[in-house]
Amino acid sequence: MSCDTKDAAAEGALSLVRDLIKSSGGLIGIGTGSTVARLLPKVVELLKGKRVLSSSLSTASLLASMGIDVISYPASYPPVIEVYIDGADEVSPDGNMIKGGGGALLGEKILAYSSELNVFVVGEEKLSDLLGTRRPVPIEVVPESYPYVLSSLKALRLNASARQSNGKMGPTVSDWRGIIVDVYTGPIKDPRSLEATLRSIPGVVETGLFIGYADYIVVGRRACSYDILSFRRSAKAPYI
Ligand code: A5P
Repeated sequence: MSCDTKDAAAEGALSLVRDLIKSSGGLIGIGTGSTVARLLPKVVELLKGKRVLSSSLSTASLLASMGIDVISYPASYPPVIEVYIDGADEVSPDGNMIKGGGGALLGEKILAYSSELNVFVVGEEKLSDLLGTRRPVPIEVVPESYPYVLSSLKALRLNASARQSNGKMGPTVSDWRGIIVDVYTGPIKDPRSLEATLRSIPGVVETGLFIGYADYIVVGRRACSYDILSFRRSAKAPYI
């Protein structure tokens, strides 16, 4: 028997977060993408009455359609999220990830940074030995700085282009009003150094490299099982 890996991952994530959500009195963060969307019907009853933050307008409207109130701005300071659940586009064995396939990388990084516990859910097809093998690295760029950022990337011999939009002419503009640029790196030997290089270009607001953000990654298998991988988290807000 063969299963949809997203469903298998969602099943595994449910086993991990069910009790956490049930007992939570704080903020719950929900990320973006089709894998998270498979999990939501399984946790929707648990989310009712909770304070929920979402990483994108897309997830906010999906949650709202299920009867969940989403707050856009947390009233509590510091805004500590008890558990954040999200998908990923590519995952390396050390638990680092490329995210932002849905253009929501900035919102996702803010929530993952501010969360006490991060759980990512992926199908096994997202696993790769070196990040960049399967996917480009998306970056979010201040629109006015786009020509300068593109020229800098070119001078660094990085092939990049603005992601084109479906349903509108021109580049994909994120919920945070930045242009999403995909950087075609090929396999990345040193993700930390690439992250530093990209972030050093003025006008780059954020990158889709999520280094040290995972506490758990739930991997759904075609064989209808799942693995729950745990990692030593290093990236978090100083107030966590
Ligand atoms: C959104 O910007 C992304 O980071 C998603 O979390 C990622 O693309 C995973 O999406 P799927 O679950 O649809 O593959």
